[in-house]
Amino acid sequence: MAADRSTLLRVEKGTALTILVAAEFSAQEWADCWPALLAALPGETLLREVTDPNAIDIALVANPPAGLLASLPKLRLIQSLWAGVDRLLTDATLPRDVPLARLVDPAMSQAIAETVLWAVLSLHREYFDYAAQQQRGQWRQRPQRRADEVTVAVLGLGEMGRSAALRLAGNGYLVLGWSMRQAELAGVACRSGTAQLEAVLGQAEIVVNLLPLTDVTRDLFDRRTLASMRRGASLVNLGRGGHVVEADLLEALASGQLRRAVLDVFGTEPLASGHAFWTHPKVTVLPHIAALTDPRSAASVVARNVRALRSGAPLAHLVDRTRGY
Ligand code: GLV
Repeated sequence: MAADRSTLLRVEKGTALTILVAAEFSAQEWADCWPALLAALPGETLLREVTDPNAIDIALVANPPAGLLASLPKLRLIQSLWAGVDRLLTDATLPRDVPLARLVDPAMSQAIAETVLWAVLSLHREYFDYAAQQQRGQWRQRPQRRADEVTVAVLGLGEMGRSAALRLAGNGYLVLGWSMRQAELAGVACRSGTAQLEAVLGQAEIVVNLLPLTDVTRDLFDRRTLASMRRGASLVNLGRGGHVVEADLLEALASGQLRRAVLDVFGTEPLASGHAFWTHPKVTVLPHIAALTDPRSAASVVARNVRALRSGAPLAHLVDRTRGY
């Protein structure tokens, strides 16, 4: 039986917290992450395995096994080591009364801005097409357009979306931002709400998706939404695979409604060998690397929330479970 969790939010001074790191990490990721966490959380007890479920105060998680968190009755905080918590929220047993925090890390916002700038520049200056020309041994100069002739829409204006939109605006692009709730961002024309989405999509030559995956945004890029994009526009999906109906995207590429798709995320990851995206001439596939968790900065972000828990200060970046992010 779970304890009354309200009493668990108080931490005795001087008591070490027991922190479980439950992550589907490769050996390399563990090697990078573990020393960074140990250094950022001196005096706390860090574990990679549950020995006594009653001893775990905090879980730092990256794709933990379903059901694991429900088996820890004294948990006071679940801190994601990923920015997106959509996969965590699909675990029906996830304790509802334990605060759940997303990872909001300036290093990831910087990384996503770099990936977005690379994708947008590559589309605008047709570098993907030049790469294809090289494969054919073809020497052909294409017309060169200025950045201020290119309208880019960034969907999702959380930390990462804002960082990306500002980077694009700083690079001279005409940037439209769209989010569920109205945002303000210098140099970016911000729109909000479903009623304004079609107008935004209709104007942009490049659409960058950085939305969180929720019940509202799942399958957002279906046949209807893709048809509301400008003819010949390109889609850069760095959100989640679940935002895109893959068959509808393939159809839009085949018909010429879309010029190109740059995809970092997929319905099933790793992308299955033999999937049509791998060899599609109009698709660029990335292995979910648009913004990897940076162990050093992530460890200090996590440590800030652990200190907040200790001192009874408000925890940062808590997920609103009804909203889904
Ligand atoms: C990556 O996709 C993340 O959610 O951190």
